[in-house]
Amino acid sequence: MRVLVTGGAGFIGSEIVRTLTSAGHEAVVLDALLPSAHGEGADRRADSRLIVADVRDREAVDRALRGIDAVCHQAAMVGLGKDFADAPQYVGCNDLGTAVLLAAAAAAGVRSLVLAGSMVVYGEGRYDCRLHGPVRPGPRAQSDLAAGRFEPLCPSCGTELTPGLVGEDAPVDPRNVYATTKLAQEHLASSWARATGGRALSLRYHNVYGPGMPRDTPYAGVASFFRSALARGEAPQVFEDGAQRRDFVHVRDVASANALALEAVAGLRPGGFAAYNTGSGEPHTIGEMAAALASAHGGPAPVVTGEYRLGDVRHVTADSRRLRDELGWKPAVGFAEGMAQFAAAPQRDMATS
Ligand SMILES: NC(=O)c1ccc[n+]([C@@H]2O[C@H](COP(=O)([O-])OP(=O)(O)OC[C@H]3O[C@@H](n4cnc5c(N)ncnc54)[C@H](O)[C@@H]3O)[C@@H](O)[C@H]2O)c1
Ligand SMILES: [Zn+2]
Repeated sequence: MRVLVTGGAGFIGSEIVRTLTSAGHEAVVLDALLPSAHGEGADRRADSRLIVADVRDREAVDRALRGIDAVCHQAAMVGLGKDFADAPQYVGCNDLGTAVLLAAAAAAGVRSLVLAGSMVVYGEGRYDCRLHGPVRPGPRAQSDLAAGRFEPLCPSCGTELTPGLVGEDAPVDPRNVYATTKLAQEHLASSWARATGGRALSLRYHNVYGPGMPRDTPYAGVASFFRSALARGEAPQVFEDGAQRRDFVHVRDVASANALALEAVAGLRPGGFAAYNTGSGEPHTIGEMAAALASAHGGPAPVVTGEYRLGDVRHVTADSRRLRDELGWKPAVGFAEGMAQFAAAPQRDMATS
């Protein structure tokens, strides 16, 4: 299979390219080498298989799509960004970019798409109240966060909730600009499939970590912040009280999920769209993750700061059974082993930072 991997120079995309190539597929990479992901002045001639172009550049995308069987769309601006001033860039890269890519795919007769989705579409995970069953707490109030009341409470009775695993049919509830753009990508993919008879599959990744993660920038994930702090000899700064639950999934397992999805997408009905949670199925707290990294690195131990970010959710952990059952995916890297390796592995260099 000849696959166009957008964002294929990034953290996850480059692992997908390695996985596809070693399975005998051909990968064509289109990546704009965004400064927010690669630093200023990243080497544009580094790799001859790399087309350095923006997914919003229709001519470049048209050229990249020649002879392509399927698109694996990883290109996106990631993370929470600095502040709301980043919103036009997020929407531009992620949504206008997806629209241009899909219009070009429609014109080129490419009908298979695998999309890098995200668990951020679910907002505040899934909770159960002892009295009210499954409930959906709204965004946490700044006054609660400032007072150290981090756990969302039942909207009906105000008691503490038990966090559970979120399934694909959970209602969506994007809580920030990035999340909104990731959800819009799915809606665009689904519209494209319906309009063209194409097939689209979104893998809703949970917290991906592993070698090659970019160093800390406002656009990177929390594992990368902790890893960068440890590399500087500083203690990882754990926000809230460290009890936030996440599902940390290794980048190699995410790459294998993409390889399976690229095979499976052809089996969807024409016009079909499907979403699959992509998580390890083994939830951990942010505090546990910081402690595992710090201990593998040989210290210093994490510090819980009580700081918070508006737009962060308290708990979100995946039920990834559908991906295991329907696509036969099996994550291979466990938490302890993966974190120990990650603590020792190099992070991606940013050209100027
Ligand atoms: N890292 C995670 O934990 C995580 C979780 C959920 C979803 N995702 C999704 O996975 C995908 C890959 O993320 P990543 O963590 O590898 O980030 P990354 O920043 O390392 O990779 C993204 C790549 O896309 C490129 N890119 C961005 N906008 C582009 C554009 N307009 N045109 C061309 N190239 C562009 C960047 O230069 C970069 O190389 C993204 O779609 C992201 O939303 C990541
Ligand atoms: Zn209740």
